[in-house]
Amino acid sequence: MTSLRPLSVVLLTGFLFHCVAVRAGADEPGTVEEAAARPFMHHRVMFMHEPSTKAAVAWTTADELFESHGVYWDTEPREGDLEKYAFKTHAIHSQPYTLIDKDEKNEIPANIGHTVLLEDLKPATTYYLVIVSGKYQSREFHFVTAPDDDRPFQLLFGGDSRRGPKWPAVHEDRRQVNRLMADLLEEHPGIIALAHGADYCARAEWTFLTDWLSDHELTTTKDGRLLPVIPARGNHDRGVTFEEMFYWPGRDHEYHYATDLTKGAVLLTLNTEISHAGDQRDWLAKTLKTYRSGEPRWIVVQYHVPAYGSVKEYAQGASQRQHWVPLFEKFGVDLALEADHHSLKRTVPIFEDKENAEKGVVYIGDGGLGVPQRDPDTSRWYLQAPGMTSNGHHVHLLEFSEEKIKGTAIGLDRKALDQFEITR
Ligand SMILES: [Fe+2]
Repeated sequence: MTSLRPLSVVLLTGFLFHCVAVRAGADEPGTVEEAAARPFMHHRVMFMHEPSTKAAVAWTTADELFESHGVYWDTEPREGDLEKYAFKTHAIHSQPYTLIDKDEKNEIPANIGHTVLLEDLKPATTYYLVIVSGKYQSREFHFVTAPDDDRPFQLLFGGDSRRGPKWPAVHEDRRQVNRLMADLLEEHPGIIALAHGADYCARAEWTFLTDWLSDHELTTTKDGRLLPVIPARGNHDRGVTFEEMFYWPGRDHEYHYATDLTKGAVLLTLNTEISHAGDQRDWLAKTLKTYRSGEPRWIVVQYHVPAYGSVKEYAQGASQRQHWVPLFEKFGVDLALEADHHSLKRTVPIFEDKENAEKGVVYIGDGGLGVPQRDPDTSRWYLQAPGMTSNGHHVHLLEFSEEKIKGTAIGLDRKALDQFEITR
């Protein structure tokens, strides 16, 4: 259980850390070996449910005995002076990352993952925090909770941040996209999170994921704002280390879940790596019905393997088209976010497998957060104008207002590779 207590109470109960000697933060991670060898790293935030009131703060330490761990936090900056923070949470979930023979062969150090769930947060509020493990203390980071009203906001979306099969090597493409995301977060303070359409690494093994987490530090802005991640699970994320990396206290589902981005918008994350029918389809039908009744709101879905892909065989999306797409169409999903094919695409609006400007759902993707890009099949009917397809590393900036979603695929040169608008 997570508890929120004023610092004075914490001090009385003996949870005072001896921890001002070593500071660490979101500096450049350096080489793969240097990054993996750091004793205190990977400071980050995850959103899954109710991001206006809950956030999971996570980090990694070396596999050595630290006497204590904690997160000090407040709605005011306290510049790392631990005694001044109003809250401290010490209910930490700590577990060693699973190592396999290949990790040991690669001389990847054993590490411990730590997660704290912050609850009862205020919506649209900046939270300043410092993470402490034994003698280590992070710089002061901050993150912003999601609003609970229907104000305009932005969301980043992308998938496929995995390197090619070679290791070790600095994954410069992924790092460049991460730096781009940090710039976008500075430029658009209304960005709530990065919706990650999955395939973080070649395999969900610590050799690769420790590297991903080190590179993810580059999404933090210079002044310490953390970019929360809303994760999906992909075909390269089947290993248990994925669950360790995105551990969420109390999670009771197979990585399909609803995230209330605001009162006026919801993101449904689906999991293409388990049955698309059965429980997941039932959950999708029920959840779409609930969200589509009542107040009008944007409904966006994200998942890894596309229903309407741009590169791989069309048959790969058959199950998604059978079990999910009819529900997207029935309940008027406004935008579908896909990945996996390693290209850039935007379909025409699709309804019952035909172009339909009035009732159709638009599908964008297909994975450009650093993975080597492929040539799309430009002959597919649903990628013809007004749809598009090409390739190049990119992230999507989605700007939501009452009237429209404005989408821009932004390349590494900071230029728009595609732009579109979805109106109600
Ligand atoms: Fe994939």
